[in-house]
Amino acid sequence: MNVLGIETSCDETGIALYHSEKGILSHALHSQVNLHREYGGVVPELASRDHISRILPLIQNVLDVASLMSTDIDGVAYTAGPGLVGALLVGVAVGRSLAYAWDIPALGVHHMEAHLLAPLLEEEAPQFPFLALLVSGGHTQLVQVDAPGNYILLGESLDDAAGEAFDKTAKLLGLSYPGGPEISRLAEQGQHGKFHFPRPMTDRPGLDFSFSGLKTFTRNTVNEQASDEQTRADIALAFVDAVVDTLVIKCRRAMQQTGLKQLVAAGGVSANQQLRHGLEKMVDKENGGVFYPRLEFCTDNGAMIAYAGCLRMLAGEKEPLGFTAFPHWELGAGPTKY
Ligand code: KG4
Ligand code: ZN
Repeated sequence: MNVLGIETSCDETGIALYHSEKGILSHALHSQVNLHREYGGVVPELASRDHISRILPLIQNVLDVASLMSTDIDGVAYTAGPGLVGALLVGVAVGRSLAYAWDIPALGVHHMEAHLLAPLLEEEAPQFPFLALLVSGGHTQLVQVDAPGNYILLGESLDDAAGEAFDKTAKLLGLSYPGGPEISRLAEQGQHGKFHFPRPMTDRPGLDFSFSGLKTFTRNTVNEQASDEQTRADIALAFVDAVVDTLVIKCRRAMQQTGLKQLVAAGGVSANQQLRHGLEKMVDKENGGVFYPRLEFCTDNGAMIAYAGCLRMLAGEKEPLGFTAFPHWELGAGPTKY
């Protein structure tokens, strides 16, 4: 079965073709980072317009690379939410329309579900059940994944997502958008022990997160002390250490609480090397294993959407004609059911 995957929830147009036995046949991505950089963040209207101009050439491109024709496609999967509504609607409308024209089924995929399934595309893949730490620009969640479509939300951020905290803190330090990779680079020049930032919500039970206080703490430190380049690097390192420690502490707690030994880390922030190092050290001590998507599939991409859609189509899931985007959509809650 050949499934076309379409991702347009934010600032990347990601398209891929996935075959149920052969795996990923081709994938293509257009990042809008350069378009949004001068504004310091994603401008939703610009994002939608750019998706409109990119989506069809990219679809043609993945078909050409895989040497397939439209008649070879058996299903279309598109991100239906959560995300920016205008951006989502581009992928939803194009995906639904192509499926209608080609007379094949189409399914709306949950963006975070696709992120958490992405490590299953790798050779070294986890077995169900596993724990998933989802860390993206919009979400920070700990999820118990019992089977495809069977998710229990164990904890989540009560305010800023981890990626959002990275992006906002990077801005405070005068770094450009997207801040995650930039602040990690600056932190590499920092010295440990110069500053110590709080590890929010780790001193009380539970698996929820909060990162907005950490951002405020960083802002105050920057305003009071960031006089030179070395101090900025020391602050960046203290911030990254605090986020990584907080995530690691909560992951360890979730592993001990559930007895699950396999941990998946996915979403844009899972590309962070300091986080990977921290998780690996912790999971080693717990006699477990940690799994990630390959780097290019940590951030948004079409492959994870094609894969999640294919799993669901193989499970016999169908959706009626008509389409909607779901800017706010809780993982595991309607509109799609297994
Ligand atoms: O999953 P993603 O591509 O998009 C959303 O679904 O939100 O995640 C984007 C987020 C951004 O906040 C970006 O700053 C962060 O992932 N990010 C990183 C790194 N690479 C991307 N954060 C920390 N370190 C990185 N290396
Ligand atoms: Zn994402």
